Amino acid sequence: MSIKKSGATIVFFILISVGYANDGYKLWLQYLPFENKAVSDYYRDYLENISISGESPTLDIIQKELIIASEGFFDQQVLPEFSKTTDSNLTWIIRSEDLPEEIKGKLGTKLSEVKEEGYWLKSYQGKIIITAKTDIGLLYGTFAFLKAIQTREKLENLDRLENPKIQKRLLNHWDNLNRTVERGYAGFSIWNWHRLPNHIDQQYIDYARANASIGINGTSIFNVNSNALILTPEYLAKAKALADAFRPYGIKIYLTARFNAPMILDSLPTADPLDPDVQIWWKKKTEEIYSYIPDFGGFLVKADSEGQPGPHNYGRTQADGANMLADAVKPFGGIVMWRAFVYNEKTPTDRIRQAYDEFKPLDGKFRDNVIVQVKNGPLDFQPREPFHPLFGAMPKTPLMMEFQITKEYLGQETHWVNLATMWREILQSDTYAKGKGSTVSKVIDGSLHGYKLTGIAGVANIGTDRNWTGHQTAQADWYAFGKLAWNPDSNIDEIAENWLKMTFSNDVDFVATSKEIMLQSHEILVNYMTPLGLHHIMARSHHWGPGPWVTGGGREDWTATYYHKASEEEIGFDRTEKGSNALAQYAPEWKKTWGDADKIPLEYLLWFHRVSWDKKLSTGNNLWTEMALRYQKGVEGARWMQSQWAKMEGKIDQERYEHISSFFKIQVSEAEWWRDSCLLYFQQFSKMPLPPGVEKPKHVLKYYLNFKRNFVPGI
Ligand code: GCU
Repeated sequence: MSIKKSGATIVFFILISVGYANDGYKLWLQYLPFENKAVSDYYRDYLENISISGESPTLDIIQKELIIASEGFFDQQVLPEFSKTTDSNLTWIIRSEDLPEEIKGKLGTKLSEVKEEGYWLKSYQGKIIITAKTDIGLLYGTFAFLKAIQTREKLENLDRLENPKIQKRLLNHWDNLNRTVERGYAGFSIWNWHRLPNHIDQQYIDYARANASIGINGTSIFNVNSNALILTPEYLAKAKALADAFRPYGIKIYLTARFNAPMILDSLPTADPLDPDVQIWWKKKTEEIYSYIPDFGGFLVKADSEGQPGPHNYGRTQADGANMLADAVKPFGGIVMWRAFVYNEKTPTDRIRQAYDEFKPLDGKFRDNVIVQVKNGPLDFQPREPFHPLFGAMPKTPLMMEFQITKEYLGQETHWVNLATMWREILQSDTYAKGKGSTVSKVIDGSLHGYKLTGIAGVANIGTDRNWTGHQTAQADWYAFGKLAWNPDSNIDEIAENWLKMTFSNDVDFVATSKEIMLQSHEILVNYMTPLGLHHIMARSHHWGPGPWVTGGGREDWTATYYHKASEEEIGFDRTEKGSNALAQYAPEWKKTWGDADKIPLEYLLWFHRVSWDKKLSTGNNLWTEMALRYQKGVEGARWMQSQWAKMEGKIDQERYEHISSFFKIQVSEAEWWRDSCLLYFQQFSKMPLPPGVEKPKHVLKYYLNFKRNFVPGI
């Protein structure tokens, strides 16, 4: 490897990173120049002479990443020198089996704690040893080492042994073949199908780097509302090209399977999962896929939901459908991720009950290579939902978590809201399945029920926007998803802090202020959108902006009035035993608090109860006043975020500072829009005045009812 070790004096600019234009393309892998010579000198020793033992495409990637990092840190002035020998090098990247015997002995039995994808960063006699069982472990370890430098950790006492707690850590792209992205707000799909398989865009490589840096090891590249064409040779060749590009980064490809593909592609008369011809069709199709992609991960399936075909069409169960595909991928080591997002268009019962009612009786009936993929809450990625009651309810069937990183219902790409805060709320919820402490995180990491297969998926927020995610800060959600996928009990404060440091700056004020914005942002958004347990009151279809008045149309369970049922007396959905009794799907412990309108945390009040407008709440206010004050508080919160951010000017590059500032203009005005329109709408029912402190709406209700925006992205 060529070296450009400058003997000349290296000039360091304290504000070096501030002056640079920066469009955000490099995500958290900015490797910004060190802020001063002392810091630079400190890390220089570890980055200048590196030993990498062995040869493989993944080890080549490690080497490349270290070069990219050094070019950034030292502003092109210093490049690492690589060798295969460990003599005199301060940083070693070495498989544990290749460690010198003497060191193996000194490291002791702890070495055997490093599992397949794990790594150990260990400071040892003045060196840093990055060791792992596999090359992918070494890649993860290298990224962890670079993160330690990016966040200015001291390296002398480094001792970090990490193994992922969840096996399958996937992004789910809802990308279509025409390059639109369902619920995507950051441009078009990054998969340029037209140019594949011959052209591998640099963006694919940078995508793989970013994912590997946070431990993501799988990607389902196609929409769950699937198109059978993806299973044809034309597209399999393209998927293969992506699989080949991603393999050295430890990322496997998964495909969505449209349930009636045998009928669409080969005119079979049925797609009945118990029909032998259908079973043979899937077996052959699967063999074909593996002939293109030998390490194909498996299928992701949305069936019997929102118009997607499925086993219901043939009077079969979800297990019948999943098992048929599971049998097809089994000989190749593949898995089936079968989504639990199943509900009936006739809304026979409360929509949020249906997945549990359908899946719970099937516990234990799935093949061992099936994992049921469950959304975080029982409805649909609302700003706040209680955890999905299936978690904890299926001890014999592995369940994986599905989070939505793209912000379909949370302001889409223009609101700064830190999703990790919401995800922690879900992950740390107690299912009580095996007594107190049976958190959702323990369900999905497999420890609660002893699942052999574990997984987590995040619906990607990635598109062709130069900064990948629309909002610069939505990169944090992708980053945090990876971190929580690796360890669902990770500390989200640290995740936010590290992301800020790696992405923008280590400036103490910057990190403290921005972190505070991040940590408050979710509650602020809930207040200006859906306080007190309101849900599904977004505009119809595109879900952008408020729509509590949405009613009628083909499907009741796609309206807002179905969920809030506001009348002159009361508002809310009764899910206690007097109502839909969805509450009974949770452990009895929850019935005690959530079942009692006086004890339930106000955050969930209208999710579970119908409450009269004049009911006095624990805050001392009646329901109407509390609702109005919370909407107002949300708006004030958004303004507070904006004013805090304004203080960050000069602390980071101007380009991203201004990008975020301009998005705040949108966020604040949309927060006001939400407050004004929802309060005017609900006031028709409560018939009470706005309490003091709540600003007068800018327009009359009619204005909001008639407000239409054409071509909202994402549908
Ligand atoms: C939501 C979303 C759809 C998506 C669906 C799903 O309903 O609006 O666009 O297809 O979730 O998760 O399958």
